[in-house]
Amino acid sequence: MSPPPPGREAQHILHSGRQVTTHPARPESDVALRAMYARCSAESLYARYRTASPTPSAVPGPVHRSGCTAVTLVAHPAEDPGQLIAAAELVGLTAGREWEAALLVEDAWQGCGLGTVLAAVVLDAARARGATTVTASVALSNGPALRLVNHLGGRPRPPYTIEAVFDIPVDPTRAST
Ligand SMILES: CC(C)(COP(=O)(O)OP(=O)(O)OC[C@H]1O[C@@H](n2cnc3c(N)ncnc32)[C@H](O)[C@@H]1OP(=O)(O)O)[C@@H](O)C(=O)NCCC(=O)NCCS
Repeated sequence: MSPPPPGREAQHILHSGRQVTTHPARPESDVALRAMYARCSAESLYARYRTASPTPSAVPGPVHRSGCTAVTLVAHPAEDPGQLIAAAELVGLTAGREWEAALLVEDAWQGCGLGTVLAAVVLDAARARGATTVTASVALSNGPALRLVNHLGGRPRPPYTIEAVFDIPVDPTRAST
């Protein structure tokens, strides 16, 4: 079965059997996004933002940031569209061929395969926008994120110390969801 066109809702089944829906954030997602961030632990926020108290403007919203091209992708339990449980931001760099991605899965949903699902959705969205590479900054102490980027073929850019920028290749011929 071919994947749904980018921008549409997509359904996924996690290891636990729970069904989740992903889609680009919408203007009405703003409140649910902020509620999700408020439920996240300081550790998760730090892993995503390098600060446990990101400013409201750093919290992704559905509206494109001024001066750059960006898209926010979100996930919710299939049965509860009003509760967002994960968000990914994809920001266009260098004339659209390179995009930067950052993911946050709410603590209660981590370790269930949702990050893996969302990363595939992010790569599809980047591919649809003509990306050849997606980059991700990951602390070398962040085991789950490292496993994720490794599975996606990510290569760390030297030099790196406690954090590395990974280049993840985007195969133009392959849709991953
Ligand atoms: C990193 C993150 C996005 C991963 O999402 P997730 O839903 O927890 O990850 P998944 O369940 O898809 O698992 C990804 C891999 O990490 C492993 N993993 C997940 N949680 C783990 C844990 N607590 N301990 C060890 N391994 C873990 C999984 O086994 C899987 O590896 P595998 O495919 O080899 O089995 C999520 O944990 C998160 O949002 N963390 C806080 C923010 C962050 O670190 N963002 C990344 C930097 S931008």
